[in-house]
Amino acid sequence: MRLDGFQQWLKDTMGLDASTIGPTLVERAVQRRMTACGRAGLVDYWQLLRDSALEQQELIEAVVVPETWFFRDAQAFATLARHFDPLWAVTHPGERLRLLSLPCSSGEEPYTMVMSLFEAGFPIERLDIDAIDISEQALAKARRGLYGNNSFRGGDLGFRDRHFQAEAGGWQLPASIRARVNFIQGNVLDLGFLPGEARYDAIFCRNLLIYFDEPTQVRTVEILARLLKPEGLLYVGPSEASLLLSRGMTSAQFPMAFAFRKAAPASNPNAGMASGANKYVADKRVASEPTRRAATPLAFTPASPPRASSPSRPKPAPPTLTSTSAKPAPAAATQSSLLDTAQSLADGGRFVEAAAACEAYLQAQGPSVRALYLSGLIHGAMGRDAQAEDHLRKALYLDPCHEEALMHLALLLETRGDAAAGRVLRLRAQRCRTATSR
Ligand SMILES: C[S@@+](CC[C@H](N)C(=O)[O-])C[C@H]1O[C@@H](n2cnc3c(N)ncnc32)[C@H](O)[C@@H]1O
Repeated sequence: MRLDGFQQWLKDTMGLDASTIGPTLVERAVQRRMTACGRAGLVDYWQLLRDSALEQQELIEAVVVPETWFFRDAQAFATLARHFDPLWAVTHPGERLRLLSLPCSSGEEPYTMVMSLFEAGFPIERLDIDAIDISEQALAKARRGLYGNNSFRGGDLGFRDRHFQAEAGGWQLPASIRARVNFIQGNVLDLGFLPGEARYDAIFCRNLLIYFDEPTQVRTVEILARLLKPEGLLYVGPSEASLLLSRGMTSAQFPMAFAFRKAAPASNPNAGMASGANKYVADKRVASEPTRRAATPLAFTPASPPRASSPSRPKPAPPTLTSTSAKPAPAAATQSSLLDTAQSLADGGRFVEAAAACEAYLQAQGPSVRALYLSGLIHGAMGRDAQAEDHLRKALYLDPCHEEALMHLALLLETRGDAAAGRVLRLRAQRCRTATSR
């Protein structure tokens, strides 16, 4: 019995492609479990594994990567809460909002969904979130709702004071938030996984596909597409976006949120034959049309019904940049608030003003990874591929392992037909990931 047999078992059972986390991590996990069970060699341990469902779960627990935190890739949650705002509840009387977090790990992601919707004024008693993960250990932590410092990352931790109670062992979420989430142990690759059809208004499947090989990714995306309502939103992780485009999904045009929709059925029969890359380009052009930008930012695909903005939704009014030309920063605003302004303008679909704010920031401050990356995304959303590429490359010059910049640039080059260059960047991202996880 060789180690490959265990790697193959993990791939067949849970989809894990050992090369994504490094074969040595699998080797170490097997060694650890062998020792814990008092088995002398691989053959002996293999027999145990084959016969014991309990040990199978233990080995799975030993290889999963439960890394997660509250408000990870915060724009995903901001756009979710803007899309399903209080007006949605009014215009969908008697309906409940159904969301899926898969994989949910230790619960930070689904709980962030609840907090985001609650803070945006959504009536959370009409919210149901299914949260699924293969790891029993992660789910036990999720159900408990008690979190340590590692779950709180980034600068803005105001949500922690607003929602959590400090306790001896960490920060405790109240029952009112926990009750909105239904945690379920499950393996997305099980044949009977969530039978039935489109039931979810939005699905978060972030940072799972990166651990799968391509056939397993394709299979998983098909399952997700089956579970998503026709108008639903599918969120993935920054490194997973290009896969969705190649599987017939279309970008939802939410900068830095990595959200997708099912592509609308094409009226022209030939249009249905377009590659995912072409769809992406077409989608970006729609977003760059002035009339569409002037509309409410959430009406980003032809299939979306027009949405009025909600009168009751508490929404911070972003400062308006009236000119599209680059300007020095307003005296009152700090430089970093200018970048925050650029971000909110971009989130609101006001790409021209957002690009101008980034440019003003760069002129005042000189090169900055965040500004260059944001500017790259904004130009990309406007269909200005050359400028997008230029800014993303500059961001990578300053930070060669900036994963999101690597992935966006890869996507941009691939949609332009340069698959080889895209692949080089993806491999670089993978190397960077491996280096930081050591
Ligand atoms: C990196 S976490 C992602 C958590 C969260 N979605 C996020 O982005 O922060 C990956 C999770 O995938 C889970 N997982 C791995 N394979 C799975 C499978 N086949 N079915 C369901 N969950 C799986 C692991 O247990 C782990 O908790």
